[in-house]
Amino acid sequence: MSSVRDFYDALAADYHLIFPDWDASMARQALALDAVVRARLGAGPHQVLDCSCGIGTQAIGLAGAGHRVVGSDLSPAAAARAAAESAARRVGFPTAAADMRALPFRTSVFDLVVCADNSLPHLLTADDLRTALSGMRRVLREDGLLLLSVRDYDAIRAARPASAPPQVATTGQGRVVTFQLWHWHEDGERYDLEHFQLVPDGDGWEVRVRRTAYWALTRGELTDAVLDAGFTDVGWREPEDCGFYQPVLTARRGRP
Ligand SMILES: C[S@@+](CC[C@H](N)C(=O)[O-])C[C@H]1O[C@@H](n2cnc3c(N)ncnc32)[C@H](O)[C@@H]1O
Repeated sequence: MSSVRDFYDALAADYHLIFPDWDASMARQALALDAVVRARLGAGPHQVLDCSCGIGTQAIGLAGAGHRVVGSDLSPAAAARAAAESAARRVGFPTAAADMRALPFRTSVFDLVVCADNSLPHLLTADDLRTALSGMRRVLREDGLLLLSVRDYDAIRAARPASAPPQVATTGQGRVVTFQLWHWHEDGERYDLEHFQLVPDGDGWEVRVRRTAYWALTRGELTDAVLDAGFTDVGWREPEDCGFYQPVLTARRGRP
């Protein structure tokens, strides 16, 4: 099993191919997330940390919506690409390579901390989860907002699927197919993931396989972890209500 950092470093150049149209996905996601943020914090602009920014899928859209964004990510390759992609779209923002369990930012500086698209479930222990959430709380200003999005693991844990369906992206070289195989641990909560990308190669295909692991946290487990870390006012928005493709948790930093 490669480390999470190795997984995303290796994927960084190809990450946008997970989406049929990355720019369209960024625009759609930003619209939905910005509406959640405005409803909780007002119009802003807000000082935002995306602490698992990856190549910038949410951060670029939030910067485009006018917020002052900083991105950080465990993967130096992904963080560097987020900086370059944001600059190319004229919404450039600074990024850093940083583990969300040890955020290198001052205390109480952000209005909003984002950790979206199933990034938190890469942490596989309760200790790591608590460390990361406490760190996110530390960098939020008083009454600042935490916004997490994760897969719908309540449904997924009940069904224990063995795979995730293919996505197809059309490129200048032809169509790239991405899909995942999931291998559940005996605890029924964690799984190893094999991430396949089939890339056209002459008359055949080049197969790129990368491996990582997740902890399939239910809404209840994540709510408890967020409360344990000191947050208040925890709530969930479902995809059908907020237009984001995953369930979204919001919580307030609360008073010190
Ligand atoms: C599924 S990707 C989502 C990235 C980005 N939010 C997006 O949607 O494009 C998960 C991200 O979480 C990051 N990540 C995983 N563990 C991390 C950690 N301990 N600290 C910071 N980032 C982490 C990975 O490097 C990866 O970029």
